[in-house]
Amino acid sequence: MSTSSSSAAERNFKREFLNILFIVFVVLLICFFIFFVNHHENNKYIIETLELNGSAEEGDALFKINCVGCHGISARGLVGPDLHTITKRMNDKEIIKQVTGGLTPPMPSFEIDPVNMSNLLKYLHSLE
Ligand code: HEC
Repeated sequence: MSTSSSSAAERNFKREFLNILFIVFVVLLICFFIFFVNHHENNKYIIETLELNGSAEEGDALFKINCVGCHGISARGLVGPDLHTITKRMNDKEIIKQVTGGLTPPMPSFEIDPVNMSNLLKYLHSLE
């Protein structure tokens, strides 16, 4: 009697354990899926941006609307750093991540389409 009840408890425990294992597995699977979709989207955005040949004038206008508050009217720096040698210090991919990522507060992340991002890059290159 005692052996059968302990084996029933054991079976219950095993079932519980497998249930938890299954839930953990599903959660991990969802995390990986989100990570890959995100990664793929980011890469697609960067590739699309780098394929374009933007306009420095358009980029200048965009910079005056979005960036001068922190980087100064002629990008000589204010709260944010001087951007005149930025294209020597960072490659285009890194600059795209800087502008769209929001990884260095207080600089916000910008939702900017590939055409305008390409214009901004062209403008930053024109500062060299
Ligand atoms: C709210 C203020 C703010 C705004 C608006 C802002 N930035 Fe920044 N930016 C910063 C600060 C502060 C840093 C330095 C972050 C750090 O690395 O600590 C920075 C860093 C950068 C860097 C990297 C510079 C380096 O030397 O590492 C780039 C490139 C840049 N910003 C571009 C832009 C562009 C382009 C825009 C407009 C689309 C913009 N920023 C708008 C505050 C701002």
